Amino acid sequence: MKEKKKGFWREAIRVTQENDPAARTAFEVVLTYPGVKALAAHKLSHWLWNHGFKLLARMHSQFWRFWTQIEIHPGAKIANGVFIDHGSGLVIGETALVETDVKLYHGVTLGGTGKDKGKRHPQVHRGALISAHAQLLGPIEIGANSKVGAGAVVVADVPEDVTVVGVPAKVVRVHGQKDEQTILNLEERREASYHSSHSK
Ligand SMILES: CC(C)(COP(=O)(O)OP(=O)(O)OC[C@H]1O[C@@H](n2cnc3c(N)ncnc32)[C@H](O)[C@@H]1OP(=O)(O)O)[C@@H](O)C(=O)NCCC(=O)NCCS
Repeated sequence: MKEKKKGFWREAIRVTQENDPAARTAFEVVLTYPGVKALAAHKLSHWLWNHGFKLLARMHSQFWRFWTQIEIHPGAKIANGVFIDHGSGLVIGETALVETDVKLYHGVTLGGTGKDKGKRHPQVHRGALISAHAQLLGPIEIGANSKVGAGAVVVADVPEDVTVVGVPAKVVRVHGQKDEQTILNLEERREASYHSSHSK
């Protein structure tokens, strides 16, 4: 059966109240959360971008960047139910894809490495947590329900339900456990896949 699409505002209020105990009422969420404003504005920028009004779309997104300190390229694809906390300094690139229930904090970059053409920004799968100032670079995939630690620099795919930290980011937990052998195996696979995709 096809999943029913939930509206932007309902999802924005739900995800904010679920993730921030300080969010008291729906009215407060709509009025005071820069992430909610930036994502609502992105809906219009994205529509303009997809309907050929590219310059207007860029101008609109830059206007909201000024008000929210959150820069989302109008081409980025962002599902309803994404939570942006604080948000200042957050940058989301043109070919990024962000799925529902993803949490993004201030200072995060979903950016390019400067070396890729076409698809050059990350895809962040459902439920992933991207902590403050994490830098996710290149056309990489961040697995569902994974956690990226504050200040991490991620340049290779991250599997589902793991925690990665550091520069460059390495796996430190798998399904919440510090299972050394599983972590070692995953890291070997990540390294091999990173080197094979960068030797082309
Ligand atoms: C990564 C994070 C989400 C925790 O995930 P977790 O799966 O619960 O991981 P743990 O806390 O068990 O930490 C796992 C290991 O990584 C280390 N670690 C955790 N966060 C780290 C970070 N940001 N950088 C470097 N190492 C870190 C821990 O010390 C621990 O090390 P150990 O294996 O030697 O014991 C959390 O540490 C984090 O970075 N939160 C920031 C959230 C945020 O942005 N808040 C801003 C609110 S305004």
